[in-house]
Amino acid sequence: MPRTLGLIGSGNIGTAVARLAITAGWDVVLSNSRGPETLTDLVTDLGDKARAATPADAARAGDLVVATVPLYAYDKLPVDALAGKTVLDTLNYYPARDGRIAELDANDLTSSALLQRSLPGSRVVKVFNNIGAHQLFTLARPAGAPDRSALPIAGDDPAAKKEAADLLDALGWDAVDTGTLAESWRSEPETPVYVKPYAGESPAGLSPLEWFGWMQGTPGVTVPAARVRELTESAVRGPAGGVVPEGATFPERR
Ligand SMILES: NC(=O)c1ccc[n+]([C@@H]2O[C@H](COP(=O)([O-])OP(=O)(O)OC[C@H]3O[C@@H](n4cnc5c(N)ncnc54)[C@H](OP(=O)(O)O)[C@@H]3O)[C@@H](O)[C@H]2O)c1
Repeated sequence: MPRTLGLIGSGNIGTAVARLAITAGWDVVLSNSRGPETLTDLVTDLGDKARAATPADAARAGDLVVATVPLYAYDKLPVDALAGKTVLDTLNYYPARDGRIAELDANDLTSSALLQRSLPGSRVVKVFNNIGAHQLFTLARPAGAPDRSALPIAGDDPAAKKEAADLLDALGWDAVDTGTLAESWRSEPETPVYVKPYAGESPAGLSPLEWFGWMQGTPGVTVPAARVRELTESAVRGPAGGVVPEGATFPERR
């Protein structure tokens, strides 16, 4: 039976997930904040199995829905249209982009628990948040391949986690269940499993900006399930959003 993936957000990660889903035989419905007409080029590039819609229509169309917007927009998602759905959450907290969110700064909540609270009728599963969009694509492998990599998933609803794991499997990835949304800090930014293991060893002496440019083009290295488990289990919780440099200022939330 054909399945449909709804995407709210069609940037780096949304596009990579959409491409993999189409390769796996899914239909995709893309959306963004500016309107479906701004996604024409992307839809043309993705081909017949893609179309564009509003976020609410993408949510309604999806058998599964990926929320892949900047965290500052977490409370602008279509709550009613997402009710009853499993929502795959790629969001990461970057205060320099998102503004400061006191409950996250205090580690009272993980970012995924914050999203779950704003989508009370949905089943949120954290996934796809700890890998660069390029490596998500280049490291995908068929089931059983010796160099298959894994991604962590976290959520409060076992059936929703199974849906997420099944999607990952179809897209070319193993899944490692790292627990509940409260425990999902184990794959947030600055943790051992975040982005770097998949990118691999970078050339020496890169500035942070140069490293970012390198990371966006490097094919990456295999990170098998056992290594993902090791990395997530070794994580120590630090301040969400990272250590704030003295004198740093942050944008107001939009
Ligand atoms: N880049 C990565 O490799 C990566 C990896 C893992 C996780 N993440 C996380 O995943 C999320 C998406 O990252 P990204 O790099 O894909 O971001 P991006 O390239 O900036 O794309 C963001 C997308 O979200 C859409 N959007 C923004 N506000 C929206 C709203 N209110 N309603 C509907 N759509 C909205 C944008 O649409 P418009 O352009 O029309 O505003 C755009 O399509 C972020 O939270 C990021 O931290 C990123």
